[in-house]
Amino acid sequence: MKVLLLGSGGREHALAWKIAQSPKVEKLYIAPGNAGTSAVGENVDIKATDFPALKVFALEREIDMIVVGPEDPLVQGIFDYFKGDIATQNIAIIGPSAKGAQLEGSKEFAKEFMQRHNIPTARYKSITAETLNEGLAFLETLSAPYVLKADGLCAGKGVLIVSNLEDAKKELKEMLDGMFGNASATVVIEEFLSGIECSVFVLTDSEHYKVLPVAKDYKRIGEGDKGLNTGGMGSVSPVPFANDTFMEKVRERIIEPTINGLRDEGILYKGFIFLGLINVQGEPMVIEYNVRMGDPETESVMLRLSSDIVDLFEGVYKVNLDTKPLEIDPRAAACVMLVSGGYPEAYKKGFPITGFNLAETTDSILFHAGTTVKDGRIVTNGGRVIAVCSYGETKAEALEKSYKVADMLSFEGKYFRRDIGFDL
Ligand code: AMP
Ligand code: GLY
Repeated sequence: MKVLLLGSGGREHALAWKIAQSPKVEKLYIAPGNAGTSAVGENVDIKATDFPALKVFALEREIDMIVVGPEDPLVQGIFDYFKGDIATQNIAIIGPSAKGAQLEGSKEFAKEFMQRHNIPTARYKSITAETLNEGLAFLETLSAPYVLKADGLCAGKGVLIVSNLEDAKKELKEMLDGMFGNASATVVIEEFLSGIECSVFVLTDSEHYKVLPVAKDYKRIGEGDKGLNTGGMGSVSPVPFANDTFMEKVRERIIEPTINGLRDEGILYKGFIFLGLINVQGEPMVIEYNVRMGDPETESVMLRLSSDIVDLFEGVYKVNLDTKPLEIDPRAAACVMLVSGGYPEAYKKGFPITGFNLAETTDSILFHAGTTVKDGRIVTNGGRVIAVCSYGETKAEALEKSYKVADMLSFEGKYFRRDIGFDL
């Protein structure tokens, strides 16, 4: 089988690493990929959202399956684009239709969907400039802190958590005034939920589903989860509080109503559903849906998935996912993200990365997030640079191995958090 994977981050390197292990794969392309993916497949210089160029490439190379890493192509309708064209309709697309991708593409859509299907989530109100007064009144009924979410995609930046009412009102007005452009023309105001979060990944063929290992990510730049939000500074799997009792509630109250709801509403969904959950005193509630895998959760999750992922993807395409075995490695996995100095604010790129030869003597696995090759050397090319991932009999052992390797790798301005997994 010839597989084309879309995206260029650590998530995609981890997916590429896993896909390349499948005996079913004869050729793996990654568009556009990074320096890491080029070691497990062939990078193709096409943007993940350039559908016409992807189509030409897919036909020319006789691609059988396209695995979509990031949300943008999904929200922009890549599934429908390929399915709607007689020349490409038989290519398996791993990812939801545009309508299904609205679960991530519109917070308002996601909240209304959850309400229709009685899926536990925070109380909310959806507000536009015309209904500003209702929004201000709704804020009055809530207690601090206040959660304001831009309806549309904002590259992970569209959520504000504001500690007092006056500021919340001011921020609401500014969001509606275009703080995030058109993405915040509608704002979802939510009740604040307090608890610990985890990421649950479900793969569905629209009829059946499999639950992948649960992971937790660490979003803030600073230790103790302080400071600015980032794309993610590390991840661990498993998550001890996501035990059988908790996961049974997740299946019954969230996963099954979601999959049945999509089916009953005629929304075609063949791909990953990422449930951002919060554990509110033992009760799971949905913070958000994403329609792809998480980054850097994928890096830990792929380590723990023992089954052939391409076999699972075939199950998604053929709607017989129920017949596919899902095997999970019982070991713990932990990943520590090395980032550029200054990230998530301004940072410089192009610094050579050294220490790969040392890292190779360990059994840790490096997934490249933001790297490229310049004059034959691997250099930094993004805020998040490399995810250092390891197995361990325990989380502590996995982390210890990752930290050892994190210290072996060097580049100017390197930073990472030393407290990944601290709260579990
Ligand atoms: P997002 O950028 O959509 O991943 O959301 C950012 C973060 O905001 C989430 O990971 C949560 O930590 C937090 N958050 C979002 N909604 C709520 C809520 N209703 N209550 C508490 N925290 C929330
Ligand atoms: N790690 C969270 C995300 O991928 O959105």
